Amino acid sequence: MCILQLVLATQNKDKIREIKNLLQDLPVTILTCDDFLDFPDIEETGETLEENAVLKAGGIAKFTGLATLADDSGLEVEALGGAPGVFSSRYAGPGCTYADNNRKLLREMKDIPEGKRAARFRAVIAIVWDADKVETVEGRAEGKIITENRGVDGFGYDPVFFYPPAGKTFAEMTLDEKNSVSHRGKALLAARELIIKHLSQKV
Ligand code: IMP
Repeated sequence: MCILQLVLATQNKDKIREIKNLLQDLPVTILTCDDFLDFPDIEETGETLEENAVLKAGGIAKFTGLATLADDSGLEVEALGGAPGVFSSRYAGPGCTYADNNRKLLREMKDIPEGKRAARFRAVIAIVWDADKVETVEGRAEGKIITENRGVDGFGYDPVFFYPPAGKTFAEMTLDEKNSVSHRGKALLAARELIIKHLSQKV
C-alpha cells in the first residue's frame, strides 16, 4: 500500500481530534488547516448535510490539489421537526458558542415531556479524490435530549445528548467510547473502507 495525503476540510479542532483518532492506524498522512497558508472557509450554502459535505470537500480539494475529506454533521430533534439540522453550528445565531446553542435548545424543549425528546446525530462524510471522483458515507446515533447539561468532555451538543445504550451523555464518554458509537465514528468506519479500497487500487 502507498501512503496517501488526505486533507481535512474543517477548522473545527474538535472534529479534527475525533477524525485523527479514528484514522491514526492507516497509512495516511493527515493534513489540516494548520498545514496551509490562507486555508479558505467554505460557505455552507447547501440544504442538506450531504450537499454541504461535498461543497466543503470540493472547495478544499480545489485549493490544495489533494484528496480531501469533509464532515458535515448535525443534531435532528424529532419534537422540533428535525431542527437544528443543517443549522446546528449556528442555531443560536451568528458567532454563537456551543453553550449558547445548548441553552437555546433546552429553552425550546422546556415543555416537551420525557417520552417525546428523541433526537439523532447525523454525520455525512464526503471524500473528494480528484475532480472526477467524490464518494459519501453516513453515520447516525439515536438518543434523546435531557433537561440539563451532563458531562464535560466532547463538544457541541454532547452534554445534552443522552445515549441510552451507554446510560450516559456523549459528554460523559471518553473519546474512544464516543467514537465507538457516535454518528461520526460510524461514518468514519465506512470512510476507512473507502480509503483502504483507494489505497489498494493505487498499489
Ligand atoms: P458543521 O460544522 O456544519 O458540520 O456543524 C456541525 C455542528 O453540529 C457542530 O458545530 C455541533 O454544534 C453539532 N455537532 C456535530 N457533531 C457533533 C458531535 O459529535 N457532538 C456534538 N455536537 C455535534
